[in-house]
Amino acid sequence: MTQTDLFPPSDFDPWAKTYDDDVRQQSVFPFDGYARVLEIVVNLAEPRGGMSVLDLGTGTGNLAVMFAERGCDLWCTDFSEAMLAKAREKVPQAHFVLADLRADWSPELDRRFDRIVSAYVFHHLELDEKVRVCRELVTQRLDPNGALIIGDLSFPNKAEMDRFAKSVGDLWDEEFYWLADESIPALEAAGLTVSYQQISACAGVYRLR
Ligand SMILES: C[S@@+](CC[C@H](N)C(=O)[O-])C[C@H]1O[C@@H](n2cnc3c(N)ncnc32)[C@H](O)[C@@H]1O
Repeated sequence: MTQTDLFPPSDFDPWAKTYDDDVRQQSVFPFDGYARVLEIVVNLAEPRGGMSVLDLGTGTGNLAVMFAERGCDLWCTDFSEAMLAKAREKVPQAHFVLADLRADWSPELDRRFDRIVSAYVFHHLELDEKVRVCRELVTQRLDPNGALIIGDLSFPNKAEMDRFAKSVGDLWDEEFYWLADESIPALEAAGLTVSYQQISACAGVYRLR
């Protein structure tokens, strides 16, 4: 982790109270397409009862709950205590681990998972770090027949992102959004197999193996 942390857990703790109200604003940035993104992540994961699923940056548990409803053995991480507390209310049967995605792997998660999923989290990581974390997840944390599915703020390319940024005016926030035309080659160069779907103007889903 760098000295100046652009996205510390303290940025997220206060958001836990209002997060579920914010994601209901699904016609505006950044949650344009939110429900559809979560639905596609679940569809691509093809969950079955008993399957082990790790949800990274689980937040208030909106994605996790969809896997819990399908009978998965659910593991949820986040670096915000307040977010995890909200998720615990929704999916009390899950295992919860306070962990930073960028830090050393937690001993409590030292196993391989059938699926690893994440929604609206990786855009806090620069591209190099996205690739490093994804590679580690696929090669060391995922079952060889498994899949890593990531739904997030993502654009086909920088020109599309710039056009979109102009269109939303003051709502725009500068973060490390995925650009499919650069992230897919970078992930492939790291040895991963990638498929990508653009879901809304600002969000897409990556499937990695
Ligand atoms: C926008 S919310 C998404 C929550 C949930 N996945 C969803 O789709 O509704 C981002 C979540 O990622 C967590 N997060 C951000 N950076 C993280 C990191 N480096 N390690 C662990 N969690 C992180 C935040 O605390 C927050 O709960």
